Amino acid sequence: MITYKDEQGIAGMRVAGRLASEVLDYLTAHVQPGITTNALDKLAFDYITQVQQAIPAPLNYNPSGHNPYPKSICTSINHQVCHGIPSDKQLKKGDIVNIDITVIKGGWHGDTSRMFIVGEGSIAAKRLCQMTYDAMWHGIVKVKPGAHLGDIGHAIQVFAEGLGFSIVREFCGHGIGQVFHEEPQVLHYGKPGTLEELKAGMVFTIEPMINAGKRDIKEMNDGWTIITRDHSLSAQWEHTVLVTPTGYEVLTLSDGSPPLPSFVKTTKC
Ligand code: MF3
Ligand code: CO
Ligand code: CO
Repeated sequence: MITYKDEQGIAGMRVAGRLASEVLDYLTAHVQPGITTNALDKLAFDYITQVQQAIPAPLNYNPSGHNPYPKSICTSINHQVCHGIPSDKQLKKGDIVNIDITVIKGGWHGDTSRMFIVGEGSIAAKRLCQMTYDAMWHGIVKVKPGAHLGDIGHAIQVFAEGLGFSIVREFCGHGIGQVFHEEPQVLHYGKPGTLEELKAGMVFTIEPMINAGKRDIKEMNDGWTIITRDHSLSAQWEHTVLVTPTGYEVLTLSDGSPPLPSFVKTTKC
């Protein structure tokens, strides 16, 4: 079932979305060579629970068929695609890492992720991260009532595949609200005019996972971490987006959000 948010729900989603983004702002200065992803997890847990008085949604999250997720954030490094579990391994110069934050505030979820380049990254790594950011925005700008979910996926696919990258198909964006993952699924590939028609009040994430090599993935023995089968680099960015009466409003923004790609005019229309 797709849920449509009323003014009160939208207000709650705006708060949760901003808080999720502010966790990334807070972590940014700490993403340096030598820090462990467990240390980032602890910083995030303390900030979310003590400063924001919110709940880290991943902690003990157990959708059917999964063992509970053991940490408060996801940290996916290099060839890890998504759902990387923080550990005592240190980040090193040249790593690329996705940090994915979901907070619950007042019962509403905000879900966002960014890529970080540790120290100086390679040209290839920087390009993959930047292009994946642009790919997410190519999807976001398609959002308006009357458009279809397939329009979003198509825009992302044409852009990313046109650059020679591949798109992970097994994971997608999702409706979000008082439930972490709800309908609809938001595929990052597809055909224009297909799938659900967008209507004002829908809220969903757009979170493309894009690989430098082949699109194939596999799951690690921890039951969560997804990696590229060919061990090529993978990047992901995520925003939570509201369908407004005339377009879109990106809910997961804050002072530290990166600048918009040049082809994007606004975060809200
Ligand atoms: N935040 C992820 C998403 O974008 C989901 C993480 S589920 C977890 O949908 F359990 F791995 F944290
Ligand atoms: Co998500
Ligand atoms: Co997420």
